Amino acid sequence: NSKKVIAIDGPAGAGKGTLARRLATQFAFAHLDTGLLYRGVGMKLIVAGLDATDVVAASAAARSLQLQDLDHPGLRSDEAAVAASKVATIAAVRQALLQFQRDFATRPPNGAAGAVLDGRDIGTVVCPWAPIKLFVTAAVEIRAARRVRELRQRGLQAIEERVLRDMQDRDARDSDRLASPLQPAADAFVIDTGTLDPDAVFDAAIMQIASNG
Ligand code: C5P
Repeated sequence: NSKKVIAIDGPAGAGKGTLARRLATQFAFAHLDTGLLYRGVGMKLIVAGLDATDVVAASAAARSLQLQDLDHPGLRSDEAAVAASKVATIAAVRQALLQFQRDFATRPPNGAAGAVLDGRDIGTVVCPWAPIKLFVTAAVEIRAARRVRELRQRGLQAIEERVLRDMQDRDARDSDRLASPLQPAADAFVIDTGTLDPDAVFDAAIMQIASNG
């Protein structure tokens, strides 16, 4: 079953979630947005009034994470993203979430023929044996501009400089941490989505998957 895992990594706002959903639909694979697991841990701490840098509390929250914790309506918020990227620097948190992700990849739910996992360390740590590894990225200015547009479309206020700064901070936390830092696997196919629309990103991924047999 190692033939049927598509690993997608990349920084926030590069378009990996959109690509992951489309590939999962295309191949009728199960999809796991692994960022939700870290957001779920971060949200548990927020709800409990605890700090996301509290190693003991964060590790306990990761070990007791339940699927229903991933239904929390606040999980998509920037507050949850910041808390997620803080708990994600803690090795014990990552270790506690590892087996769930690997089980999803090797035994996808509902009898699906394969799985698409997207995150930061899928190709490097969670599923280094995945035959297809995509690294989806774009310049931080472009990713921040997309985020601003998305927030405004949802009727929310967004200050460009602030969104850019928050994204740079999160990039730095994800890339500079010791535990499973964000980086392309040596055998990952890199897609720069800076000048590509979602259809072109999808086509590039499909071509890469086809050429991998
Ligand atoms: O992808 P998303 O923005 O939802 O992820 C939130 C945070 O969770 C990331 O900034 C990162 O710190 C962490 N994360 C991670 N490893 C993953 C997925 C997410 O460290 N596989």
